[in-house]
Amino acid sequence: MPNVAVIYYSSTGTNSAMAQAVGEGASLAGGEVRVRLVQETAPAAAIDSNPAWRAFVDRTAGEPRATLADLEWADAVVFGTPTRFGNVASQFKSFIDTAGGLWFQGKLANKVYAGFTSAQTVHGGQESTLLALYNTLYHFGGIIVTPGYTDPVVFESGGNPYGPSVTAGAGLPTEKNLAHARYLGKRVTEMATKLRA
Ligand SMILES: Cc1cc2nc3c(=O)[nH]c(=O)nc-3n(C[C@H](O)[C@H](O)[C@H](O)COP(=O)(O)O)c2cc1C
Repeated sequence: MPNVAVIYYSSTGTNSAMAQAVGEGASLAGGEVRVRLVQETAPAAAIDSNPAWRAFVDRTAGEPRATLADLEWADAVVFGTPTRFGNVASQFKSFIDTAGGLWFQGKLANKVYAGFTSAQTVHGGQESTLLALYNTLYHFGGIIVTPGYTDPVVFESGGNPYGPSVTAGAGLPTEKNLAHARYLGKRVTEMATKLRA
């Protein structure tokens, strides 16, 4: 069975909930799953300026952090990040930018990759953030597996074929958002299983 790493960054919990759902879907499809939070890099003053951010940092203080070993271990990696001006979060990018050594050794190639995201508003950058994320995965030599419109849940959850995405300003991920995330975890695991075979 394939190893599936869900590597995500979140400031206020939206992408954390989605990451858990991706992990559930991957696990149900038979994957060996690691869900890992990317290390926070923002200064305490910035975190303290937003009570929801501070609460999330405190709540997840004991959670295992993403490491390069998780990337190497995985047959499939699902990345998650909130949008920052239509791009990935700097915390997430900082982690990715420590992976140059693995990339140089070819250890990031030939894996299955996928992504999920969130933005505050309906047209706030969900699609552009996923496309920006995928630029990196082309450089990895990854096999990008999107949901496309391969299941009704894509339509039911807002219709983003690039990957599950949440309008965070409307509150927590809806059950449909989470179902889309679970579906992505399942699809990625099934594709990684086929690839291994
Ligand atoms: C610096 C910064 C830039 C952001 N840029 C956007 C944006 O361009 N469009 C948008 O809809 N939301 C934007 N947001 C809102 C975040 O995307 C939103 O808080 C996030 O999706 C919530 O995810 P989380 O709970 O996992 O942290 C921005 C937030 C910050 C802090």
